Amino acid sequence: MITQNIQNAIQLLEKDEIVAIPTETVYGLAGNAYSEIAIRKIFEAKNRPNYDPLIVHTYSLENAKDFVSSIPTIFYELAKIFSPGALTFLLPKKNIIPDIVTSNLKNVAVRIPNHLLTLSLLQKLDFPLAAPSANPFGYISPTTAQHVENQLGNKIPLILDGGACEIGIESTIIGEKNGQITIFRHGGISKEDLEAWTGQTIHSQISSSNPTSPGQLESHYAPKKKLYLLKKNEININLTEIEIKNVGFFLIDEVGFLGFDEYMEHIPKENQILLAENGDIKLAAQKLFGSMRELDLKNIKIIFTFGVPSHHVGMAINDRLQRASFKS
Ligand code: TXA
Ligand code: MG
Repeated sequence: MITQNIQNAIQLLEKDEIVAIPTETVYGLAGNAYSEIAIRKIFEAKNRPNYDPLIVHTYSLENAKDFVSSIPTIFYELAKIFSPGALTFLLPKKNIIPDIVTSNLKNVAVRIPNHLLTLSLLQKLDFPLAAPSANPFGYISPTTAQHVENQLGNKIPLILDGGACEIGIESTIIGEKNGQITIFRHGGISKEDLEAWTGQTIHSQISSSNPTSPGQLESHYAPKKKLYLLKKNEININLTEIEIKNVGFFLIDEVGFLGFDEYMEHIPKENQILLAENGDIKLAAQKLFGSMRELDLKNIKIIFTFGVPSHHVGMAINDRLQRASFKS
């Protein structure tokens, strides 16, 4: 059921049920972060492997003291600027957080979502909410209540509708060591923003298979159709067909194109989606997952894209396209 009624959500969550919640990044599939029963239901509904840890949501960094043992000063400084917002902090967990939440890691990922409905829900509960993105494992993240309904509607009792997600791409995950920030997943808050506010050069440690750093899996965020992330010199196109190097030939109306700000010549317009005709990288992030879903539904065989300019949130967009892309 899709509803805006927060009371229904509270009742369910207090009984260890799971509920989809809106955030400014993507919709989450939430359960009581202190309850193993609720957490197991999340993993089951998503069909998520237990080595991929969950993010825990609360309404302020200060409040996270209930379940983390310490918070570095620089995180408080960052929280003043970016919280609530698309930034997730890795912090040492207390025992009250079951090991299943963090896949046995010592740190728990903590996020304060910038969404009024969900903040008010979090304030009314006496436990934080563990919530991964509300999609079946490996598929594209949901940015509307309807996306959640389409994929998980029959597995969960309630979807709290908070409108379309404003940012449209997951949070940036950061850790701290000796006052130095490291990015473990690119996301809604850019490296440039973090560098501007900390005065540090910030490094990223983006892994694809090492579960002791953020469980960023190589194959993820993927549509059902094969998506190819290409360089412009990897295609040859004419009036009737397109050749993708090392892949093969396709008829011109068998392919879909996910563009940034320019359409592709020759390919039928109805099989093309531009992320940001005006070149606005934030708009591109907002439209990314919805556009991938739209192309996935079209009567085409494959989708291809050249990615987006790699600045600000463009880094996160290209990271998701890379993970969504087909690797032979
Ligand atoms: O924007 C977001 O972060 C969204 C919304 C719902 O808040 N959530 C989200 O969750 O993207 P999910 O489960 O799709 O991605 C969580 C990722 C994990 O795959 C892993 O990479 C990282 O967060 N993570 C979680 N806990 C971690 C931990 N203790 N240590 C390292 N990485 C962790
Ligand atoms: Mg996810």
